[in-house]
Formats: sequence, structure tokens, C-alpha cells
Amino acid sequence: MKNALAIMVGSAFILLLAMLTLVVMPYIEMTTEEVPPDLKPYTEQELVGRQSYIANGCMYCHSQQPRDPSFAPGDKDRGWGRPSVPGDYIYDEPHLLGTMRTGPDLFNIGARQPSEDWHLLHLYNPQTVMEGSIMPPYRFLFKVVEEAGPDDKVVNIPPPYGPESGTVVATEEGMALVAYLLSLDHTYPAPTLPQPDTAKE
Ligand code: HEC
Repeated sequence: MKNALAIMVGSAFILLLAMLTLVVMPYIEMTTEEVPPDLKPYTEQELVGRQSYIANGCMYCHSQQPRDPSFAPGDKDRGWGRPSVPGDYIYDEPHLLGTMRTGPDLFNIGARQPSEDWHLLHLYNPQTVMEGSIMPPYRFLFKVVEEAGPDDKVVNIPPPYGPESGTVVATEEGMALVAYLLSLDHTYPAPTLPQPDTAKE
């Protein structure tokens, strides 16, 4: 009987410890996480682009989570930006961290490549701007018209990649996706990131 009591108290203690470390502590850590003051919520167009990013499976090849240099020095060396902090994802639902890196991390692509025209060309056919790219083309985000209207965004495709005749213009979805990519700029200082002198290089 004495043993039974010890087992019960022991297992209750282990359960309590697990609750504390797996539920309570992470909860407290998250509630004290500061939202970076320079982080802006997405605009309506950027949110449409975000849906397109999800629908087109971009996250199967691209992550959005640069890691700490002490853990993964390659991320910093590749110019993917400072390590992300939980507060950076406050407006992301669902978050698009991604696990595969067939292509580069895109968490700061808006800062690294701020040209709308570059992104449009790249989406139409990645090989127009990146020789030998294995990223698939997303030509359905564009349409070919006889003559572009005043509101159309014309994309000048260099030969031999363009269509034989007509003008390539971006669709609304294509423009929204590029707006979303340009919004991916988390280069502002993160309030909760350990400072370089305390962080291990
Ligand atoms: C099959 C894997 C794959 C998929 C799916 C994919 N990409 Fe890529 N992506 C790559 C590769 C590989 C590169 C590097 C070569 C290049 O720049 O084209 C790349 C590069 C990029 C770059 C340039 C990154 C830089 O640092 O210069 C952007 C922007 C990008 N992709 C956006 C997208 C978007 C948006 C989608 C979804 C519509 C997407 N990718 C889907 C593989 C992929």
C-alpha cells in the first residue's frame, strides 16, 4: 500500500513537471513576446497574394524562417537576414515557416529583391532572370493580350522566352502575389532578439 501511494505521488509529480515545461512555460514565454513596432499588418492585396502563395505551393520549396547563426551559420552567410523571432509572425495565420529549402528562404525577399518587375519576370519564367533555375514557371499568373489597356501591368519578356505574338500582362493574382513577396521584409530590429555581444556568433 505504501508503494502504491509513492507511485501515485511520483506520477502526479512527473505529470505536473511535464505540464509546466511543455504548456505553462511556453505560454508565459509567448505572452511576454513583444510585437516588433516596425512590423506592419498585411494589406488586403497582400493577403490575396498570401493565399496565392499557399495555393501555388511555394512553401513546399521555400522556408520563411532564417535561423540563429550559432545554430545555422549558413542562413546569415546566404544573406537571408537576422534570425526570426516569434513576434515577426504575429499577423501570420497560418504561419508559412516551411521545412524545405529547394529554393532560398523568402522571409526577407522584399528587402533583398525590391523590384516588382524582377518578380514578375521571375514568376513568368524563372530562367529569364536566373539562368538554369529549376523553379517552375507560373505562366497562369499572366495573360497574353492583343493590346494592353491603360490599367494593365505590361511585363516585357526578353526573347526567346515570350510568346510569339501579343503582349504579356500580369493578372490580378500575379500582382497580389508580387505585393505579398515585396511585403516580406523583416529587416527591422527585433526587440526580443539577443544582442550580438551576448549572442554566440
Ligand atoms: C520546385 C521548387 C520551387 C517551387 C514550388 C517554388 N520555387 Fe521559388 N525558387 C526555387 C529555386 C530552386 C530558386 C532559386 C533559383 C531562382 O532564383 O530561380 C527559387 C527562387 C525564388 C525566388 C528568388 C529568391 C532569391 O533569393 O533570389 C523567389 C522570389 C521565389 N523563388 C518565389 C517563389 C514563389 C512566389 C513560388 C510560388 C508561386 C515559388 N517560388 C515556388 C524553387 C521553387
